[in-house]
Amino acid sequence: MKTLFSGIQPSGIPTIGNYIGAITQFVEMQEEYESYFCIVDQHAITVPQDRLELRKNTKLLAAIYLAAGLDPNKAVLFIQSEVPTHTQATWIFQTLSYMGELERMTQFKDKARKQSQKEGIPVGLFTYPTLMVSDILLYNADVVPVGDDQAQHLELTRTLAERFNFRYKEIFTIPETRLPKFGGRIMSLQDPTSKMSKSDANQKAFISLMDDPNAAAKKIRSAVTDSDMVVKYDKENKPGISNLLVIYSSFTDYTIEEIEAKYEGKTYGDFKKDLGEIVKVFLTDFQEKVNHYLISEELDEILDEGRDRAFKKTIKTLTKMENAVGLGRKRK
Ligand code: TYM
Repeated sequence: MKTLFSGIQPSGIPTIGNYIGAITQFVEMQEEYESYFCIVDQHAITVPQDRLELRKNTKLLAAIYLAAGLDPNKAVLFIQSEVPTHTQATWIFQTLSYMGELERMTQFKDKARKQSQKEGIPVGLFTYPTLMVSDILLYNADVVPVGDDQAQHLELTRTLAERFNFRYKEIFTIPETRLPKFGGRIMSLQDPTSKMSKSDANQKAFISLMDDPNAAAKKIRSAVTDSDMVVKYDKENKPGISNLLVIYSSFTDYTIEEIEAKYEGKTYGDFKKDLGEIVKVFLTDFQEKVNHYLISEELDEILDEGRDRAFKKTIKTLTKMENAVGLGRKRK
């Protein structure tokens, strides 16, 4: 069976963008792969976090994974900081990566711009992609389902896997990036030319999976759309309505074409009202499941078991890496 790895940061509450771009793929793919889904809290601290919020969001993300349909009998769910091999391997990958390579990462450039206006750019923000490389390569993942914005980090992962294999020993599988057919980049509801992000200062720009369902429907109704009134997918000229069409299609069984046909002759208002209702129903049901898992004793047990399985798998790879590099000693 082939192996899959992916992760989400608990740096806030996941949005419907994370859900559509990443989590729905996870749920489908767990059926076919030996799957590892990580809550990457060490990635989250590359920008300042409140300790209590971080802990709360970490458990919440675990409950969200379960509520979305990730099944602990099929997939391993765990918290990154509880499996020390990830940061140990990161050191080795840092010695293999070049400053120039990391400086080119667009996510680093974006986040560094924001941080430089505050207290400065943390070194961890710069080396962040090497932690992601460890996450993936320690499992010898064949496939990594992510949204569009992670594609560049995946390119780096492939480069470093090849570099390690060439310089030291053929240990690593070269992982494939799996982007969703559509929905790989859900856009902001207020500026449909930029990505929906859980850290957006404007609350109306994104819908979090724990938003009040009525408030979420209102955000959809007030989403920015163009002045032409035809419900038609046209990403270039009608980014706002196109984004809403993708969201509509993701939460229903309709294709984009079917939705276009359904709203022929109707107004944006009708369309947005219906989509608001769809999102509201989805969130109400979803949050009920999340709250169930949050208070269940099962949650800690699942994360304990996940931690142990993840460690067992990765300590083998880390030992191979250390042997290949010449770290430590060979016993007599
Ligand atoms: P993160 O936490 O920013 O996002 C988690 C996943 O959600 C996707 N995503 C989106 N998809 C569609 N539309 C959007 N607006 C949107 N926003 C986010 C992301 O592409 C991602 O798949 N570095 C990663 C986490 C990570 C990881 C890994 C992923 C750490 N180690 C190893 C895969 C494998 C991140 O910050 O994702």
